[in-house]
Amino acid sequence: MKKFKRILSTVLIATLSLSMFSGCSSSEDSKRIVRIGHNQSSSHPTHIALTEFEKYIEENLGEKYDVEVYPSELLGSQVDMVQLTQTGAIDFCVASNAILETFSKNYEIFNLPYLFANTDAYHAVMDDESITDQLFKSTEKAGFEAVTWLDAGTRNFYTVDKPIESPKDLKGLKIRVQQSPTNVEMMRLLGGSATPMGFGDVYTALQSKIIDGAENNELALTDNGHGDVCKYYSYDMHQMVPDILIGNFEFLSELPEDEKAIFEQGFKIVNSVEREEWTKAVEASKEKAEKEQGVQFSYPDQAPFVEACKPLHQTVLENNPAIQPIYDAIQEYNAMYSSAE
Ligand code: GCU
Repeated sequence: MKKFKRILSTVLIATLSLSMFSGCSSSEDSKRIVRIGHNQSSSHPTHIALTEFEKYIEENLGEKYDVEVYPSELLGSQVDMVQLTQTGAIDFCVASNAILETFSKNYEIFNLPYLFANTDAYHAVMDDESITDQLFKSTEKAGFEAVTWLDAGTRNFYTVDKPIESPKDLKGLKIRVQQSPTNVEMMRLLGGSATPMGFGDVYTALQSKIIDGAENNELALTDNGHGDVCKYYSYDMHQMVPDILIGNFEFLSELPEDEKAIFEQGFKIVNSVEREEWTKAVEASKEKAEKEQGVQFSYPDQAPFVEACKPLHQTVLENNPAIQPIYDAIQEYNAMYSSAE
């Protein structure tokens, strides 16, 4: 199945590279095809939200644009899709903030473990355009721009053989992390052995025991089947890493003003639909994982995890002082939402 998916995705990418020169599907169809890729299933909140985007754009600009949404890594891994977006072979993709840091160091900020005091502070920061705008528009040279963010919940450890109750339990375990230097360093500080790989490879790696566990939100258990192999999910809550919808810079900057306004409304729809769906999906996933997959959820004391990760904030800020103002603004939100608790 996986081999088939790889072949399909290679064929699709080759076809896209050829058709990008014309920008049209066929000679009798002169509509501009807008291609969007992501790595989630077609029942995931991300896909539901992008389908609403497709509807909205086609309702309002259907004479000119035909939006196509490709789920399940059909256009390659997230790293591949970011590269395709940079060159304009596709127009948009959803990328985890984690992998974006290798394309622009500014994105390191949201990869820091225990950055946000709680979900309310996280959402408030991500909704504050005075914080996100400068970051989202800072990647012109890299060929893309971020247009909105999507909730990807809280990341926690899950393992095949034993629950992670404290960082000590990670010792000697190979844990899959996203392909980001910050994540690799986080794992080192927590005492586990980081195994970076793309999302689509995790299930097989768990099943064949190449890795002992991974870390992600609850949907990875059900939507990606990781809960069929991993029976222990521990809420250490180490990261809230947003997903980011990015678009090809040239495509976005060449949109006429009236169309741009419609696309921007479409991006708002992506954000609001995804977030609404997200809350429902997390609850449903947790229930399914517990009842149908037999996953045990545990709630370890977070303090030792927080303590172990602390040095990372300072290292990242020292090496990348440009993100200090965003970091400081986040602390203000943290203070505001912690005192409201
Ligand atoms: C989450 C996130 C994805 C990411 C994945 C991963 O599912 O929403 O964008 O690719 O984690 O761990 O790679």
